[in-house]
Amino acid sequence: MQKREELYRGKAKTVYLTDNEDYLVLHFRNDTSAFDGQKVEQLQRKGMVNNKFNFFIMNKLEEAGVATQVEELLSDDEALVKKLDMIPVECVVRNYAAGSMCRRLGVEEGIPLTPPTFEFFLKNDELHDPMVNDYHIVSFGWATEAQIAKMKELTFKVNEVLSKLFADGGMTLVDFKLEFGLFKGELVLGDEFTPDGCRLWDKETNEKMDKDRFRQGLGGVVEAYEEVAGRLGLML
Ligand code: TMP
Ligand code: ASP
Repeated sequence: MQKREELYRGKAKTVYLTDNEDYLVLHFRNDTSAFDGQKVEQLQRKGMVNNKFNFFIMNKLEEAGVATQVEELLSDDEALVKKLDMIPVECVVRNYAAGSMCRRLGVEEGIPLTPPTFEFFLKNDELHDPMVNDYHIVSFGWATEAQIAKMKELTFKVNEVLSKLFADGGMTLVDFKLEFGLFKGELVLGDEFTPDGCRLWDKETNEKMDKDRFRQGLGGVVEAYEEVAGRLGLML
């Protein structure tokens, strides 16, 4: 498939059209952003690490029966994906309190959430991704009730599959964010699953191994992502 012109430049990935209208090329850049794009830095190797990491995780999810947009690894930092009509909300599942939940509810980081919680956020940097509920999503026509139910079901399924995968590598999956879209009417997992969009703590020491290292200026960001990959048996 031939790569064509740029369709969209996100904060960490650029999306290109191809000569087939059903497929896109995702280019994972080294750009790393936090706080809705207010903090941006280039981190060596991050595009490559996240591209390969995403391909690995999406394949695990496919094996578990979750349809994803990923088709093929094209190069170190590019992948071929299905072109989805994206639903403009983010699906977040939390197994432990962290991040915005602690700020919003004044709870301590690390409190276990039983059962895990589910939250929707509107994808809108200018508004700082406000939390929205099912009614907002239906009333504004962002998704149907059936699609909402399916997004919840699939996000919890991903939580089950990946909590176990990371636990086997000595890590705790604290929380994560997913984005879905429609491909020929079917709900499909899009965007990415990388340490940029989840929280992972070492099971023994609780050391942070995800983008919180960047948000909090802890250093060793890409090194931590590489450690996560290594623990899952992924050769980069
Ligand atoms: P939060 O604690 O900032 O709400 O984030 C919860 C999880 O979702 C965390 O792992 C980071 C991820 N996330 C993103 O990757 N991008 C986003 O825009 C948001 C709101 C969350
Ligand atoms: N993904 C968002 C950003 O890049 C939010 C975050 O990760 O802090 O700004």
